[in-house]
Amino acid sequence: MRLEKFIATSGVASRRAVKRSIREGRVTVNGTTVFIPGHPIQVQTDTVEFEGKLVEPLSQRIYIMLNKPAGYITTRHDERGRPTVMDLLTDLPKSIYPVGRLDLDTEGLLLFTNDGQFANRMMHPSHETEKTYLAWVSGVPNKRSLNHLRNGVKIQKGKTSPAKIKLLDVNLPATKALSDKRNRSSKMSKLRVIIHEGKKRQVRLMFKAVGHKVLRLKRIRIGSLALGKLPQGKYRYLTPAEVKDLTD
Ligand code: URA
Repeated sequence: MRLEKFIATSGVASRRAVKRSIREGRVTVNGTTVFIPGHPIQVQTDTVEFEGKLVEPLSQRIYIMLNKPAGYITTRHDERGRPTVMDLLTDLPKSIYPVGRLDLDTEGLLLFTNDGQFANRMMHPSHETEKTYLAWVSGVPNKRSLNHLRNGVKIQKGKTSPAKIKLLDVNLPATKALSDKRNRSSKMSKLRVIIHEGKKRQVRLMFKAVGHKVLRLKRIRIGSLALGKLPQGKYRYLTPAEVKDLTD
């Protein structure tokens, strides 16, 4: 395959920009600078670096969604040997990593990839990807609290941006969400929360700011991608159309 085509189809830059970079000596093949855009390469065996970064052929890019259970840390490796989300990704290359994070006790949709551009695109605040959560919280937030959450509340990391909040259910028995048996008789509410920021523990801190404890938290959607019926603890590959929709 022509060098410029290989790089451009991997998605790192436009065809024109790739040609220019090659001509300017910013591309190497197996460690040697190549100045000719049409230089032939072997996709399977040649190592191409574009502006210092390894170019992964499109076919080797991996995009996974996991339905994370509570109790798993979002990290590639935990020094203390605690369960990590990587323990749930059996039979997958070690080169993949989580896109963003979910707290230890948060469940639901978590993406993984080996595509750095995709990961940056998903996490960069300027793209404002909407994330939808189901939150089960103590008590029943009143109208004032709901509006407060919608308009933005002060948490440790500053004020939160406007959020979409919908009260879905009230007076649910809190038994399922609570390990603390002393509170078994208490009630909880279920809400849908849509935010487009990713401040640490944001949803938990937002509810804390209006006096409600999050008892259970589950992410059910990132942008156009819904968790759907993927069973807890299981993962699946995204379809090319899903990847495209996420990044369009
Ligand atoms: N907000 C939280 O509080 N925790 C998460 O894991 C994600 C969003």
